[in-house]
Amino acid sequence: SSKFTLANLRAARTEGTKVPMLTCYDYTTARLMQQAGVPALLVGDSAANVILGHPTTLPVPLSFMIEIAAAVRRGAPAAFVVADMPFGSYAGSLGTAVRHVCQMASRSGCDAVKLEVTVGHSKLVRSLADAGVAVMAHLGLRPQSVATLGGYKAQGRTARQADEIVATARAMEQAGAVAILLEAVPNEVSAAIVEQTSLPVIGCGAGPSCHGFVFVTHDAVGLTDHTPRFAPKLGDLATPAIECYRRYVQQVSEGRYPSAEHGYEMPAAERAEFGK
Ligand code: KIV
Ligand code: NA
Repeated sequence: SSKFTLANLRAARTEGTKVPMLTCYDYTTARLMQQAGVPALLVGDSAANVILGHPTTLPVPLSFMIEIAAAVRRGAPAAFVVADMPFGSYAGSLGTAVRHVCQMASRSGCDAVKLEVTVGHSKLVRSLADAGVAVMAHLGLRPQSVATLGGYKAQGRTARQADEIVATARAMEQAGAVAILLEAVPNEVSAAIVEQTSLPVIGCGAGPSCHGFVFVTHDAVGLTDHTPRFAPKLGDLATPAIECYRRYVQQVSEGRYPSAEHGYEMPAAERAEFGK
């Protein structure tokens, strides 16, 4: 399959073809997703939750994100790979933030980096765009700001908040961001951003007006306990996985594994000499 590029993402906006995107955190799954024809993959800092088992996305290190983004890149060379910059890695001085983002871009081989932004990040996004980095601006619910948002709740449900999110999206386009990710906002907000910017908009619980859609894959394939309302039910990977693991436990406990077919033979002549 041919590579899905930023040009393809922009064309999807123009042509009205919707882009399915999935979160992905490892090489093996990236291969399967590429085989399935998923054009865009997000190496989300939700890895903190579904890979590392943390209750928030805050503790995931930049080095870990770079490592898994590179693994996803190797597994899905044809996909448009977006990698999340984790909490704290683009805070503080502009110089340090730019250096960290450039580390992600250069070492992982991702196609774009995603940053959770407010209008205060405009200068950083401009610096990154000037440096040649494709930035996806993540607005709406920003899980890295759970402390200041006061919990994980939908954003932009008041006119004032909705106006602020739309204004931030416009500022991000001005600053040189190449795409918007909108999390947990009413479709009215998404529709306004689609209308008032020329950027491709990926929605995560942001309604049908978006040009593409994403959610944490594990939530949609039965691998997590809770499922947010916006995640589709795509199937159940947990039951067959548990069945495989259980089968192994049974085979060992019943002495059916390992058997002759799983072993290596010593030639008869060597066996005769062995230990003499
Ligand atoms: O980290 C993540 O998975 C995200 C989402 C938008 C799903 O940022
Ligand atoms: Na994220």
